[in-house]
Amino acid sequence: MAQLMEMMRVTLFGSRNDASGSKGAPSFDPSRDIASLAGKVVLVTGAAGDLGRTTAVQLARYGRPARIYVADLPRDGPEEDKILRRIEHEAYGTGDAEAESKSGKAGGGGGGDDDNATRTEFRYLSLDLGSLKSVRACAAGFIAREERLDILILNAGIIRVAPGTTADGYEAHFGINYLGHALLARLLVPTLVRTAEQSDARVVVVSSEGHTMAPKGGIQFDALKGTCAEMSYGQRYGQSKVALIGLAKQLGSRYPQLKVAAVHPGRILTGMAESLRKESLIVRITAPIAPLVCVPVATGVKNHLWAATSPDVVSGKYYEPVGIPNKESAVAKDDGLSDRLWEWTEKELSL
Ligand SMILES: NC(=O)c1ccc[n+]([C@@H]2O[C@H](COP(=O)([O-])OP(=O)(O)OC[C@H]3O[C@@H](n4cnc5c(N)ncnc54)[C@H](OP(=O)(O)O)[C@@H]3O)[C@@H](O)[C@H]2O)c1
Repeated sequence: MAQLMEMMRVTLFGSRNDASGSKGAPSFDPSRDIASLAGKVVLVTGAAGDLGRTTAVQLARYGRPARIYVADLPRDGPEEDKILRRIEHEAYGTGDAEAESKSGKAGGGGGGDDDNATRTEFRYLSLDLGSLKSVRACAAGFIAREERLDILILNAGIIRVAPGTTADGYEAHFGINYLGHALLARLLVPTLVRTAEQSDARVVVVSSEGHTMAPKGGIQFDALKGTCAEMSYGQRYGQSKVALIGLAKQLGSRYPQLKVAAVHPGRILTGMAESLRKESLIVRITAPIAPLVCVPVATGVKNHLWAATSPDVVSGKYYEPVGIPNKESAVAKDDGLSDRLWEWTEKELSL
């Protein structure tokens, strides 16, 4: 049984750590530790998915920023609206009449009877990270509407999809998880830097302990334009997650006025488990015991929330949950690799 569980851990997440990933970690309680975010503007990618949505919900519930932009794949109007109403409902117990009638009461998300005036407004932004054109349109749409950006959370991601490329010809995991986010961050840096002139401005880069599955050398630059079909699924995912740690390091050192952190959220049964189930027999076989090695979504967002709000974040670092630094692989620590990645990215994106 123990062997089976370990096999599943490795298949799902690549390596080490206890199920919660939180041994020895400082405790983080969103209801106690998230200070007021009044007047602030937040953008979360992949916020229709489990970790992104719950991050938006908890920031709205406890920090109440002025606006949260939910950036996710383009959907039709009613579908976007449904996602926004679900987030509003989970944050304040309002906005989703369907959910309220099913639960038999309003206020299921908590805080249902408090002051409407301080509630966060949610807005949807279409973003396909697999298309650099879509990323540019998303950034332009945001910049046209907002003067400031206080917290940017690069959370969206894919895992274990069949070999393929993005619209621009990059390996799918690398193109979506890393390159689309790198472009989005770069386009939003001027707004973040302007915001940092008045207050704290941050970028949270959602990586994974799965970065340890990257191929030799961390990133195979010569193979990135193509499917990387000769690599394993884990290597393709791991390569994109090493790159995200590199992005956090580079943004942190090049923009000292910003606070930038890369995070691993822990092991959580989310929408991602679906792709894993589709592609992996071992994940299908071990599905019944998956809850034993995973934490609930509310626990899985603590590192996102800590990195987005804690005064203790040191810019440029990678953190395992919650707030534990220096656990990244040797290759992810390599400054030469992140320098090379920065140069490669500048060239590819013509920045
Ligand atoms: N769950 C875990 O145990 C775990 C562990 C380590 C790291 N992480 C990281 O946590 C992050 C969030 O994942 P999750 O677990 O919350 O999974 P999830 O529920 O599947 O959420 C992923 C989100 O990303 C969106 N997305 C996918 N492709 C996109 C694209 N091309 N452009 C824009 N958005 C796109 C998805 O949209 P659709 O729903 O429309 O496809 C979804 O909303 C990921 O970066 C993941 O690598 C998760």
